Amino acid sequence: MQSLETVGSSIGLCGSLLVLFSVLLTLVTLPVSIWMCIKIVKEYERAIIFRLGRIVRGGAKGPGLFFILPCTDNFINVDMRTITFDIPPQEILTKDSVTVSVDGVVYYRVQNATLAVANITNADAATRLLAQTTLRNVLGTKNLAEILSDREEIAHNMQSTLDSATDAWGIKVERVEIKDVKLPQQLQRAMAAEAEATREARAKVIAAEGEMNASRALKEASMVIAESPSGLQLRYLQTLNTIAAEKNSTIIFPLPIDIIQGFMKR
Ligand SMILES: *[C@@H]1O[C@H](CO)[C@@H](O)[C@H](O)[C@H]1NC(C)=O
Ligand SMILES: *[C@@H]1O[C@H](CO)[C@@H](O)[C@H](O)[C@H]1NC(C)=O
Ligand SMILES: *[C@@H]1O[C@H](CO)[C@@H](O)[C@H](O)[C@H]1NC(C)=O
Ligand SMILES: *[C@@H]1O[C@H](CO)[C@@H](O)[C@H](O)[C@H]1NC(C)=O
Repeated sequence: MQSLETVGSSIGLCGSLLVLFSVLLTLVTLPVSIWMCIKIVKEYERAIIFRLGRIVRGGAKGPGLFFILPCTDNFINVDMRTITFDIPPQEILTKDSVTVSVDGVVYYRVQNATLAVANITNADAATRLLAQTTLRNVLGTKNLAEILSDREEIAHNMQSTLDSATDAWGIKVERVEIKDVKLPQQLQRAMAAEAEATREARAKVIAAEGEMNASRALKEASMVIAESPSGLQLRYLQTLNTIAAEKNSTIIFPLPIDIIQGFMKR
């Protein structure tokens, strides 16, 4: 029977007698007492049984059916499902003296029900408080730029720090996410202005470069035309053609350049 599995020596002779008496009482009143002995926990729960104040050897019971002794035993249910909570927004001074407001989410579950019951009063509240202080500690050592760009690494860092701290409470921190990083309004404006100025400067450089390329191309074109005099004539006729197509009502009188050159020689 289960009573004999308990830590017999640690509950003492008197305790053993009480347990034996309880077993006898249960056996004598059997058909009725069975309803007081059978307990059920759900798939995701575990029960920690205290017999005369001591945790029964074998740790958590469940899921499903388990037995307790009336009078000497009581038990606590522990939920083993993953629990999530928000870390409320924390005002944090970064390493480069900017105040940012950061919040996050933590996912954790009870891994060892015995430890979660025996080693800490309220595992949930303790984990919440620890998450807040850990967030402050981790972010206090980072620059603003690092906080904005290395969120994943920060979250991972926090998760491992939290997890190792909660090991003694039988709690496994599965995941930490940084939800939002809020910058002060003034800094937001300054950063927007900086980004705009950078974009403008780049645009100017590109325009200047384009002009330089264009002038180089023009120079090359003029050199090609200068190589043969008839090339310039052809270009001249081409221009005439363009004008004729666009403004066909204008009368154009072509003046051969040779004539002008004749004048200029004089
Ligand atoms: C829970 O922790 C106790 C004490 O450290 C240990 O004896 C027990 O084996 C652990 N149970 C599980 C399921 O790890
Ligand atoms: C947790 O509780 C167990 C017994 O329930 C004990 O052996 C262990 O030392 C405790 N651990 C811490 C860190 O308090
Ligand atoms: C100017 O020319 C260089 C090389 O000839 C090219 O790399 C660059 O992209 C050009 N700039 C623009 C604005 O077209
Ligand atoms: C003159 O140009 C107009 C449009 O600019 C066009 O509609 C018209 O047909 C042209 N006339 C001739 C004779 O090409």
